[in-house]
Amino acid sequence: MDPEKLPNGRILELLERFDPPTALHCKRVSTLSEAIGAGFGLAGEDLAQLALAGLLHDVGMLEIPKSILRKTSALSYEEETILKRHVEKGVRLAEAAGYSPVVVEVIRQHHERLDGSGYPYGLVGEQIGWYSRIVAVADVFTAMTDERPYRRALSEKMVIGELKRDRKFDREVVGVLEKYLASPSGRIFASRLRFLNRDNY
Ligand SMILES: [Fe+2]
Repeated sequence: MDPEKLPNGRILELLERFDPPTALHCKRVSTLSEAIGAGFGLAGEDLAQLALAGLLHDVGMLEIPKSILRKTSALSYEEETILKRHVEKGVRLAEAAGYSPVVVEVIRQHHERLDGSGYPYGLVGEQIGWYSRIVAVADVFTAMTDERPYRRALSEKMVIGELKRDRKFDREVVGVLEKYLASPSGRIFASRLRFLNRDNY
């Protein structure tokens, strides 16, 4: 993947052409991250950077074989190792394309978890940036409420409950997400999650 081909306005188009489900996921994570950021009072360029980080968090998937991305059965250890490389690949792509350090940090940290169980560095608590914690919650919420070939989509309520119990995620961020989902625009977002499937967005 040539970083020159990664200008801001074309990310979604590139992802869509590469793998529509990945593009849909990134779009949803961006919308949710932005909503959470707005719930914390972020605005203007800060909020725009957070939304962009949400959109780009999985950009490294552009360099992961489709056979792994689309596999519907469990991944082997080797395949999982290859999949996890989307983090470093995304960092390299975004840096080369000139995206801001804020966006690059989110790409680097979106699979880190507060209890140190994440990857690639096993960072703990405050070592993980605030934007990264927001995108991590938006990412997991989106993945769990999404229909997968091997399981049905989980309800928003169920996922929020899981995220609250789990010590891997920032509770304050989960609380703001919960509040957003109860708001009029959040209810529209949630109903879209429920009724639109991957082939229809
Ligand atoms: Fe990811």
